Amino acid sequence: MFKFNFDVENDTEQSTDVNHTTKNHGPASAPTIGPDAFTELSLANALNSLPSKISYSPITIQLASGSGLSLPRRDLFDARFQLISQNTDDTDALEQPSINARSALHFLDAPSDLVPLVYEGGLKTWECSLDLASYLDGISSQFDVSGNRVLEIGCGTSIPSLYILHRIFSSPPSQNQTHIHLQDYNASVLELVTIPNIILTWYLSEAAETYRKSEERADSPLELNISEGLKDAFHQSLMTYGVHLRFFSGSWDTFDLRTSGGSYNLVLTSETIYRMESLPSLTAIMHGACNTEGPKGVDNYLCLVAAKVLYFGVGGGVAEFVRCVRDLDTGGAVETVWEKTQGVERRVMSVRWN
Ligand SMILES: C[S@@+](CC[C@H](N)C(=O)[O-])C[C@H]1O[C@@H](n2cnc3c(N)ncnc32)[C@H](O)[C@@H]1O
Repeated sequence: MFKFNFDVENDTEQSTDVNHTTKNHGPASAPTIGPDAFTELSLANALNSLPSKISYSPITIQLASGSGLSLPRRDLFDARFQLISQNTDDTDALEQPSINARSALHFLDAPSDLVPLVYEGGLKTWECSLDLASYLDGISSQFDVSGNRVLEIGCGTSIPSLYILHRIFSSPPSQNQTHIHLQDYNASVLELVTIPNIILTWYLSEAAETYRKSEERADSPLELNISEGLKDAFHQSLMTYGVHLRFFSGSWDTFDLRTSGGSYNLVLTSETIYRMESLPSLTAIMHGACNTEGPKGVDNYLCLVAAKVLYFGVGGGVAEFVRCVRDLDTGGAVETVWEKTQGVERRVMSVRWN
């Protein structure tokens, strides 16, 4: 059984224990890390706010084929360093709503600590996100993401979207236009980890081969120089591969589908069903985001949720999620498409809204 652990535990990559809220900082004293209303972030601004060098470490996804795929993730100590230097260089940075440096620093030091509707755990990679990426790999011959609209809800370090981008950037460029939108509660998470992880994934892909040969390498193999040339080459690749990225922060109940451009063909989320109170807004955004229009019986969308079966201590889990989908009264149904039954039980589920 998965348990929100009230004991302090180091943030390890695939740790199943997290610290929950009030032990270290209760809601009353919890610092704020960003606004909770729907806000779109500029990719260019986020890239411009990065330091001249970022460091990263690989994380391995076990693919359905049995092989491993290594994806890069920005090191949290490096994100921390960015905030500290911003803090030192520019005291105004503390006033910016998108990066509340003090709060972000607080959670960078304890990336597993969830403070409801303040910081929701997006700095850490949660293990079901790896399950979801692995599942996507298993169905890649049946579902071509290219040319579709994709939304990852509660993306955090965005492993499923990184997997999708890795595939796109490792295939020949296509005429198809692919829209990948990433949502997280915290703007700081998008700025500090999601967007850096995306540029790292591009940098290590075949799409960046020419750039890699031309650039002046960073001193260490696990560092990337963030130069103007890199940003230009990245933007050029996005155009060449027809990839359109957008980033949205804020709570699920404020998500504005009209601003985001309407429904999606692939809706993904992992480790987001842990809290009962948030389940209605999560299921509502999932339902609203899926392209349920079109002829009956034709699949216009795929909606996948990866989660632990039980999140003891906060009340959420698979049973509550299934109940919530039913309560939406749209004839929704949840099917388990992958499961792990040993140890902490985990599932990947497909949701049909009918
Ligand atoms: C435990 S983290 C999981 C992050 C990532 N999906 C993973 O599996 O590694 C939960 C994510 O859900 C999002 N989230 C949780 N509650 C939310 C809410 N009420 N509104 C918006 N986002 C929320 C947060 O952005 C956070 O990144």
